[in-house]
Amino acid sequence: MRVGIQISGRGSNMQALVAACATADFPADVALVISNDPSAAGLEWAAERGIKTAAISHKGMEREAHERLMDAALVEAGVELVCNAGYMRVLTPWFVDKWHDKLINIHPSLLPSFPGLDTHVRALEKGVRWHGCTVHYVRAPVDEGPIIAQAVVPVVAQDTPDALAARVLKAEHELYPIALKLVASGAAPVVDERVMLAEGVVPYSVCHPGVAS
Ligand code: GAR
Repeated sequence: MRVGIQISGRGSNMQALVAACATADFPADVALVISNDPSAAGLEWAAERGIKTAAISHKGMEREAHERLMDAALVEAGVELVCNAGYMRVLTPWFVDKWHDKLINIHPSLLPSFPGLDTHVRALEKGVRWHGCTVHYVRAPVDEGPIIAQAVVPVVAQDTPDALAARVLKAEHELYPIALKLVASGAAPVVDERVMLAEGVVPYSVCHPGVAS
């Protein structure tokens, strides 16, 4: 499956997906890394590795007009599945519908808890004992959509938002390739707005080492 990765910044999740796609028998290839920010560090990282990149600034553009340009670049690159990896633009229903069930996102919380921004600060404020990340199919409401996979990390005493973010990010880098593999191999179809894992597939979640049995 030809994958397009949408980024807005450093692109560490994109790097994890690129690494996974380079492994033997992985069912996806990265056809394009695309950003709404021409200065996104991840673009340079990808270009240096010979991956096709594109940058289309959203500045001064209507949201949908910008998305139509992003969409045209994805289509031109032959992309079949779009992975948002730190893509920080809210998507219009037009884009979300165009890529229905062909658009996935990673979010740094255990959805449906903590949609939106500043998830680690809010998790600490609420005093949750477990936090994590979610890969889900994208629907028009922000951070909603059928859940493909989740990873769990503990919240520990004296945690800071930065320490918690780093722990979650490590889990993100493990989780996103697993979720992409499920989707690209056809093992995670959406039925009645839930992901029904194919028979025999163990629903995957990862725990912070030392916490999981
Ligand atoms: C990641 O933590 C990702 O989950 C989050 O932004 C970070 C991007 O890091 N995404 C969102 O908050 C989307 N709402 P990266 O550029 O190093 O992958």
